[in-house]
Amino acid sequence: MTNCAGVVLAAGKGTRMKSKVPKLMLPMCGRELLSFPLEALAEAGVDQIVLVVSRDGSGLDHSTDMTIQSVIQEQPLGTGHALDCASRVLHGQADHILVLNGDLPLVRTSTLDRMLSQHIAQKASVTLLTAAPSPAAGMGRVLRDAEGNICDIVETRDSSEADPGNWECNGGAYCFEASWLWENLPKVQPSASGEIYLTSLISSAYGQGAGVGSLLLDEPTELLGINTRYQLALAEEVMRERIRLHWMDEGVTMIDPRTTFLDADVRLGQDTVIYPNTMVLGKSNVGEDCTLGPGSTIRDSQVGDRCRVVASFLTEATLESGVSVGPYCHLRPGTYLEEGVHVGTFAEIKNSRLGQGTAMGHFGYIGDATVGEGVNLGAGTVTCNYDGESKHRTTIGDEAFIGSDTMLVAPVEVGPGAATGAGAVVTHDVPPSGLAVGVPARIVGTRKKPAGP
Ligand code: UD1
Ligand code: CA
Repeated sequence: MTNCAGVVLAAGKGTRMKSKVPKLMLPMCGRELLSFPLEALAEAGVDQIVLVVSRDGSGLDHSTDMTIQSVIQEQPLGTGHALDCASRVLHGQADHILVLNGDLPLVRTSTLDRMLSQHIAQKASVTLLTAAPSPAAGMGRVLRDAEGNICDIVETRDSSEADPGNWECNGGAYCFEASWLWENLPKVQPSASGEIYLTSLISSAYGQGAGVGSLLLDEPTELLGINTRYQLALAEEVMRERIRLHWMDEGVTMIDPRTTFLDADVRLGQDTVIYPNTMVLGKSNVGEDCTLGPGSTIRDSQVGDRCRVVASFLTEATLESGVSVGPYCHLRPGTYLEEGVHVGTFAEIKNSRLGQGTAMGHFGYIGDATVGEGVNLGAGTVTCNYDGESKHRTTIGDEAFIGSDTMLVAPVEVGPGAATGAGAVVTHDVPPSGLAVGVPARIVGTRKKPAGP
């Protein structure tokens, strides 16, 4: 398909949301609402995309692979006016214009492809997506003449007639023959409400005998427009189900899909099993053969293969392969657990790296620390990293043994192979293989390593 430009209308006020942020910046499945119609359009293979935004929406993060050109609609004077703002950059640029309302997150690329192919095949002036029965109140009603040709669209709010019940609604996605559009759009007169409606183009086309085509969708939810928080919640539910189906098709097991929440930018590996009440959010990547949950929340984190995360909360954490976490751990930003690390119950870690095979089997706090390989962190180990003014680092060498209830008063270093006794309060560095005991801890010799393999 060539020579088709896309326009997304995103400059409306969104007053029905009652939000301090522009409607299309509100999050859905971990992304801005607007990213969904933009992605659908980009995947439909249009040659360029123009986004019509208001001044306060100009910071919208529309991350798709396509370059998107934004134009500003200074005043929200209606959907027709918004489209006219795009004419400045699109006039003479494309044969067909695919227009999408920005609040249509569920419309599928395959549907846009079908609409465009039909539009081109039928040589219509305009083709629109419709659904019946009406999926939501407050939409435009599609009116047909005695022969069944579409002759007008009347907004429910502007109609004095009683709700006819099973009416066909206007979905808010259109294909236009470009030259017809740019010629007729400036002629559209304001509606009774004072807004310039894009939908007025339908009666213009009908009046001129220019073809109006339509594609009736079997799945009306695809055309759910987001005007209220309730509609946002409904759309999010549908999108979450689509995301779950996608990952199940890719080989992920969900014990209870309804309580498994996955954001749109999450990636999951084959044969990973997700137990109930688990959320994988933001830009998280999870490897193969992992077990997540029950009751885990993983946000913006990287999880390798064969990891186990039970009833724990991870934010911006990185786990290499074979790491086991939980139940009841809090891994905060900057946590990096190397291969085979084991973190047991009630552990909190932030801004720290734990080396390969290190174990922190029980409760404790590790913050601003570098911990070597094969270290044992006993129950109740605490890095006292904050002196009330600044944060300080703790360094623990390979194969060190930190006794239960050790307080490591940072900045402090425990050398490789060193040990601390139970209850030690370590205020000075411990040399390699040294043994520190007591409060404050004294070096009492060399650690006797238990005989072992
Ligand atoms: C619109 C349609 C309606 C259709 C429904 C589908 C019109 C007049 N009505 O109604 O027939 O059934 O969508 O969901 O088009 N926008 C601007 N600038 C403006 C006004 C709106 O960019 O001045 C943008 C909004 O940000 C939004 C989109 O256009 O993304 C649609 O506007 P909205 O006010 O939500 O229209 P609806 O009342 O839902
Ligand atoms: Ca709308």
